[in-house]
Amino acid sequence: MATIPDAYLSLSDDEARERILKAKEKLGKQLLILGHHYQRPEVVAIADRRGDSFGLSREAAASDARFIVFCGVHFMAESADILTSEKQIVIHPNLNAGCPLADFAPLDQVEPMWERLVDVLGPGRVTPVTYVNSYAELKAFCGRNGGAACTSSNAHKAFQWALERTEKLFFFPDENLGRNTVKRLGRQGLKVAVWDPALPDGGLTVSQMLETDVFLWKGHCHVHTWFRPEHVRKVRELDPQAIVIVHPECHEEVVDLADHAGSTEFILKFVRSAPAGAHIAIGTEVNMVKRLAMEFPDKRIYPLARSLCPNMFKISLQSVAWVLENLGEVNVVKVPEPVRSQARVALDRMLQLAA
Ligand code: 13P
Ligand code: SF4
Repeated sequence: MATIPDAYLSLSDDEARERILKAKEKLGKQLLILGHHYQRPEVVAIADRRGDSFGLSREAAASDARFIVFCGVHFMAESADILTSEKQIVIHPNLNAGCPLADFAPLDQVEPMWERLVDVLGPGRVTPVTYVNSYAELKAFCGRNGGAACTSSNAHKAFQWALERTEKLFFFPDENLGRNTVKRLGRQGLKVAVWDPALPDGGLTVSQMLETDVFLWKGHCHVHTWFRPEHVRKVRELDPQAIVIVHPECHEEVVDLADHAGSTEFILKFVRSAPAGAHIAIGTEVNMVKRLAMEFPDKRIYPLARSLCPNMFKISLQSVAWVLENLGEVNVVKVPEPVRSQARVALDRMLQLAA
C-alpha cells in the first residue's frame, strides 16, 4: 500500500485545495469526485456530488467518468468499483479509512454459521441481506445465496422483499439498524433473535432457530451507539422546542425517544425543509452536524452529543491532492472476480429496491 509522501502532508489546506481545483479543471468530465455527508466540510466543498451511501452508489453506477475519487470509507469505494465498468478506475484517497462496523462480519465467520443454519432449517428458508457497510466478500455471499444489499435508506424495503421471498431473513452486520427496521415494518409478532458469532450456534438453541423470523448479526457502529437515551432526555429538558432526529444505527431506545430517524440524506432533507428558527438536535456523525449548522444559519442545529467517525475523518484535502496528481497510480480499488460479479447481484438488487 502506497503511503502519502511528506510533500503532500505538509501542504496547507489552501495549497492542497488549489492543486485539487487545478486537477479538476484539467480532467473535466473524465473525473468525478464523490463525497459522503460525513466528510470534513473542506472535502465536501471540493466534491462534485455529495450524498448518503445509497445516493453515492447510484451516482457511481450512473457515471461514465473515467476516474472516480470516492471520499468516504473503504466499502463505499469498493461498491463504486463493483457498480462501474471494468474500464473505469475508482480511487480511494486513504485506504486505511475502513468501517469498524463492516469488520464485525468477516466471511470466515459468516459461512460456517450459514451452513449450520441451513442444516437446522433446511435449504431455501432464509434470505441473507447485508447492510452496504460490509466487505465485498459478504455482499458476494448474499448475491450467490439469493440475497441483497441495502442501505439505511432502503433497509425496510429490503426486509419486506426478503420476507416475501422466504419465511426468514438474516441481516448483517448491524443489530441496531436491524431492530429499528423490523420495528418500522410494523408487522406484529415477528420473532427477532441476535446471532452472536462469539458463542456456539450464535447463542441460540435449535428451537430458537426454528422459531426465529429475523436473525440479526451482533455488530454495531461505535459512532452511533455513543448516543444514549440520557442525551435525548437532556435535550428535551434544556431545549423543549428542539426536534430530535437520529440515524437508525443508533440504539433502539434512542430511536424510540427521537422524533425522527433516517439516513444522512433524510437528515439533510429534514433540516433543509424545516422552517427558519427551528431547533434541531441531531444524533449522527458530528462533521455532518457541524456542516449543516454552517449551511443553515437561520436554524439552531446542534449535535445530540459529539461523536466523530475517525475513519471518515482520515480523508483530507492533502490525500485528495495526492491521488489526483498521481491518478491511477496510487490507491486504486479493484475488486477481483468472482467476488465482483456476485457482489454486483446484491448491489443491483439494492438499487432496484430504491430509497
Ligand atoms: P448513510 O447510508 O445514511 O449515508 O450512512 C452511512 C454510514 O456510514 C452511517 O454510519
Ligand atoms: Fe462505519 Fe459508523 Fe463510521 Fe458509518 S459512522 S462509516 S458505520 S464507523
